[in-house]
Amino acid sequence: MSHDSRNDPHAAEPTLPDDFIPDAYRHLPTAEGVSTVEERFDFDFRSYNDPQDGQRWSTWLSVEPLCRGPEPRPDWVVTSQGAVDTELGILKTGKEADVHLVERADPHDPDGGVVMAAKRYRSSEHRTFHRAASYTEGRSMQRSRDERAIKRKSTFGRRIAAGEWAVSEWAALVRFWQLGLPVPYPVQIDEVEILMEWISVVDEDGLQQTAPRLAQTRPSPERLQSYFDQLSGALAMMVQNGVVHGDLSAYNILAQGDRLVIIDLPQMVDLVGNVNGMDFLQRDCANVCDWFRARGLQVDEHALFAELIAQAF
Ligand SMILES: Nc1ncnc2c1ncn2[C@@H]1O[C@H](COP(=O)(O)OP(=O)(O)O)[C@@H](O)[C@H]1O
Ligand SMILES: [Mg+2]
Repeated sequence: MSHDSRNDPHAAEPTLPDDFIPDAYRHLPTAEGVSTVEERFDFDFRSYNDPQDGQRWSTWLSVEPLCRGPEPRPDWVVTSQGAVDTELGILKTGKEADVHLVERADPHDPDGGVVMAAKRYRSSEHRTFHRAASYTEGRSMQRSRDERAIKRKSTFGRRIAAGEWAVSEWAALVRFWQLGLPVPYPVQIDEVEILMEWISVVDEDGLQQTAPRLAQTRPSPERLQSYFDQLSGALAMMVQNGVVHGDLSAYNILAQGDRLVIIDLPQMVDLVGNVNGMDFLQRDCANVCDWFRARGLQVDEHALFAELIAQAF
């Protein structure tokens, strides 16, 4: 009796020769053939190690485009997806915020890295609400729940308020930068953290250091005059654009060699939209003039104020 194994489900599997390769796989390179793989398949694979303690992946790509600084962007801004942010230490702790130094660099291009100042607003119990109401007056609050929460100073309110200050400092930095005023370039905002240009100077040993506050310097008479001229020019430009710094003093101005850089802008107010606008401008003029007078430059805050107002309207 003949038996056809092809139709018999109980027949044993055919035995295949040891070097049998099913048709579908015949085109694949064998172990010896690997070196002949076409060049276009031979891409350069570079691995990135996970961030260590005190590091995180760069947050550049995780924030909304509007939370990144204005164009044209300085060429030192690091935008690489593989970049890592490394905490370098704290620059200063303050009532509302702490300022840290953060380096952002792609591990495969360490020379292209940059050190930035990271200003982080606090939302802790210890945050003060000093003058908060007069600064935020007139600033539109979209959700009345937010407004009520801030009034109650609830936990939710504190969180919103910290974000509010960060957002208002961010908006002021962007506006001032776009006007051409001497402020640090605003790199990005991520919730309560603002990353900005680190204002630094090179010391006698060739090391980069944080630029001193104007209050810590004793400039020569010529430089003192030049500093005052720079500041009056900056104040005039602010006033002509209808804004007031609101907390200007020799502590919120950095001396970068012969150039002054204005910082700490969350209290920026409208000159006319805020009922305290004029008072804040007057106080800014007084603070600045006090310091210059103490260093020996004969300046008058009333004259400065009058000159600014004359230019504004
Ligand atoms: N962009 C910056 N570059 C260099 N130093 C900075 C920068 N921003 C802040 N600092 C330093 O941190 C200090 C506190 O920052 P500031 O914005 O004035 O916050 P605060 O509200 O605590 O006064 C400044 O006096 C200055 O020494
Ligand atoms: Mg300050």
